[in-house]
Amino acid sequence: MKAAYYDTHGSSDVLKVGELPIPQPSDDEVLVQVAAAGINPIDRRLRNGELTEYISRTFPVIPGWDLAGRITQVGANVSQWNVGDEVVGLAFTWSIQHGTNAEYVPVSADAIAKKPKSLSFEEAAALPLVCLTAWQALAEFGNLQPGQTVLIQAGSGGLGSVAISIAKHLGATVYTTCSQKNIEYVRARGADHVIDYQNADYLSVIQNKEPDGLDMVLESLLSDATTQAAINLVRRGGTVAYMNNEPPQMSAIDENNIKTEFLHHRPDGDSLGQIMALFERGELTIPHIEVVPLDDIRQAHERSEAGHTKGKLVLHIQNL
Ligand SMILES: NC(=O)c1ccc[n+]([C@@H]2O[C@H](COP(=O)([O-])OP(=O)(O)OC[C@H]3O[C@@H](n4cnc5c(N)ncnc54)[C@H](OP(=O)(O)O)[C@@H]3O)[C@@H](O)[C@H]2O)c1
Repeated sequence: MKAAYYDTHGSSDVLKVGELPIPQPSDDEVLVQVAAAGINPIDRRLRNGELTEYISRTFPVIPGWDLAGRITQVGANVSQWNVGDEVVGLAFTWSIQHGTNAEYVPVSADAIAKKPKSLSFEEAAALPLVCLTAWQALAEFGNLQPGQTVLIQAGSGGLGSVAISIAKHLGATVYTTCSQKNIEYVRARGADHVIDYQNADYLSVIQNKEPDGLDMVLESLLSDATTQAAINLVRRGGTVAYMNNEPPQMSAIDENNIKTEFLHHRPDGDSLGQIMALFERGELTIPHIEVVPLDDIRQAHERSEAGHTKGKLVLHIQNL
């Protein structure tokens, strides 16, 4: 099968596109013929050699966790899926080898959901990791309620784009940050208050508008300043979900009874199915998507690495 892969850690230069054997699914997995695969920052962090203490590798590694495609084989213990089903899913594993940037991928039968008919394979493939992360942070960890306020950092990125839509679906008032070129984009996604982070200090803007503090911050940036600012932005009893790092050591956390944690997305096919139904009904909106051929994976990783893509980059793997 055609696949992108790397034999060693390193820059985007280690990525190759070539032929590898089709992997076989285990008894609890299905084999999916992949039509499209979403790109996430974790793909290039793993390729760089980060997080080896948590996630082991067997080379050659095929990158990618997000997928949309069609089932071609089901494992012996799988009863809920059939050959021919069109699915969307998150092929996350703690030991990476067979990723989604290939014509076939084995994936746990519990980590996939039916692809909504109204979504293209590319649209569906953009969604699993960012939607599960945003839903688990906002709805489950944050228990965000109608009328509450939330700051979603980096609203024009993949995670921010869907987090805005989910927070609006939950009835919250959304503050977000982005650069000037993306202001109209995040407004169109539903953001109520947009702060151009290059021309304004988001901390003082929000503190002026919300002197009692926000109910929640979804912090996906990674610096000491933004990590600490998030704690200073929420009210007593508020919530801060960190996407990249552990919470800071600040006495304000206990003093103000702030709920905070470093959250990691959890693959969950049932929850993904419920989120897909919201897209099908038009209650959530698809982020901006740029489709890139599998052959251009190096450039796609480099663009992701530069940190300023709008919405999602999605690899087109094959026509189904
Ligand atoms: N814990 C988890 O399970 C989990 C899951 C998903 C993502 N994450 C993490 O969350 C972060 C965001 O993920 P992503 O997929 O959204 O990444 P992404 O799509 O690569 O984010 C790119 C966006 O970040 C914006 N940005 C860059 N610097 C900014 C700044 N200083 N202030 C505000 N916006 C800024 C850019 O907007 P402009 O072009 O307008 O600057 C761009 O639109 C990543 O670090 C990722 O690793 C964690």
